[in-house]
Amino acid sequence: MNESAFPHEDIASLLKWYVDHGLDETIGEDAVDRFALPPPAAAAPAVAPPQGAVAPTPIRAALQAPMVRAPVPLESPQLAQDARDLARNCTTIAELEEAVRAFEGCALKRTAKNTVFADGVAGAPVMVVGEAPGADEDRLGKPFVGVSGQLMDRMFDAIGMSRERDLYITNILFWRPPGNRTPTLAEQAVCLAFTRRHIELAKPKLLVLAGGTAAKAVLETTEGIMRLRGKWTSLKLDDGTEVPTMPTFHPAYLLRTPASKRQSWLDLLAIDKKLKEVGAK
Ligand code: URA
Repeated sequence: MNESAFPHEDIASLLKWYVDHGLDETIGEDAVDRFALPPPAAAAPAVAPPQGAVAPTPIRAALQAPMVRAPVPLESPQLAQDARDLARNCTTIAELEEAVRAFEGCALKRTAKNTVFADGVAGAPVMVVGEAPGADEDRLGKPFVGVSGQLMDRMFDAIGMSRERDLYITNILFWRPPGNRTPTLAEQAVCLAFTRRHIELAKPKLLVLAGGTAAKAVLETTEGIMRLRGKWTSLKLDDGTEVPTMPTFHPAYLLRTPASKRQSWLDLLAIDKKLKEVGAK
């Protein structure tokens, strides 16, 4: 670009204008259709059967063809089923993490820098499930490490708990939605299949759902967080176990609405009390 045509100050103020309007990433000049199906594999060249061999009938040819499934569009319910099947076969958290990292059925993975699986202590008495990684989490590959995560750490610290000792933290999504947009229901369904298995394998004494999106997805309800928060419910998992579950406000909401911290404090006290009741504190 010709510098005299575009002085540095103009470029800097244009960039600032973009950032002020929420455009905080440069991705590429051309729009990419991330839901497009991959191109079909090239057809194998026809080979004549050796002399004396039985020419394949269409049925025999179909039976002999390798079992290759047609590509599944990234919004298909089949992907959630695939995720459920994969997750069910994992018998440890390490295997589940490996399966999530290798999974290619969620469109969000294509724009994310990192897979954000979990932080804290696997097997800790309290498991916290949030919504989705933000920019800081995507950069560092760990959940709740940005400003809202720091507030969450301070809140748990107030009841004597830390992610180094007592908490296991994850999200219903393992990849950052571009520009922090709300994840689609299809994206949620795919990741949730892994998250449900994650909860089964982590076996927390209590589950805390941070924010309305996580609460609605995990509890499979349309009820909003204003009604759900502060009430214990029992989450039934697919392996037949149940875990006492508390939906509470998302720390990012508390940063925007500090007056709601009072209710969150009551939720924390209820969590503290329940931990003592179940002998985990
Ligand atoms: N918000 C979330 O829900 N999860 C994170 O990991 C960070 C912010």
